[in-house]
Amino acid sequence: MTLREYSDADTPLVLSVVDDPLIPLITSVPATDCATDVQAYIDRQRSRAVNGEGFQFVVVDNASGLAVGQVGITFREPSQERASVGYWIAPQHRGRRYSADALRTLVSWAFQSLAVQRLELYVEPWNEGSWRTAESAGFAREGLLRLWEHVGPERRDMYMYSLVRRQSEPAAG
Ligand SMILES: CC(C)(COP(=O)(O)OP(=O)(O)OC[C@H]1O[C@@H](n2cnc3c(N)ncnc32)[C@H](O)[C@@H]1OP(=O)(O)O)[C@@H](O)C(=O)NCCC(=O)NCCS
Repeated sequence: MTLREYSDADTPLVLSVVDDPLIPLITSVPATDCATDVQAYIDRQRSRAVNGEGFQFVVVDNASGLAVGQVGITFREPSQERASVGYWIAPQHRGRRYSADALRTLVSWAFQSLAVQRLELYVEPWNEGSWRTAESAGFAREGLLRLWEHVGPERRDMYMYSLVRRQSEPAAG
């Protein structure tokens, strides 16, 4: 598994999740296969780093070179010391540890290369695949945030997970 930037050739990856029941609700992946909307999504992912909003990466299978999903980090403070993580894997590639490996790689890179001190993840209690992914990368559950945010039309409860920089990990810069 390797992480890389988005390219225009990643249209098939985005198209493979436009009809996922969850991904378009919790990300800005369009819920249609409109080519303009898909290209705009890819352009937005690339712009995040340029605008200082965070970093979004495509998860790539090393053996086949296939793009299988996305993992990224979004800064939550101007200082960039607190950030949240997010990830999704296309349905046909799930269950092969891509998200667990991708999150570990992202976390390791973030603590080595960025000023980030605290990484957060908000995950619905039913989404065991996601919170297991988080726990496998060292995230700890801090509690339940009741009616934390909208997922589609409804506000939903979310577990708050976090991972903080260890004393042994120097801040970048
Ligand atoms: C959640 C998601 C990213 C998991 O991706 P994945 O590549 O299939 O997960 P992995 O194969 O790396 O598995 C990681 C862990 O989750 C567990 N897991 C994965 N899918 C699971 C499921 N449906 N039910 C229960 N556990 C599951 C694995 O057993 C593994 O646990 P372990 O470390 O205790 O052995 C994927 O299902 C997805 O993209 N879902 C839709 C988007 C989403 O929910 N994103 C996260 C929002 S908070």
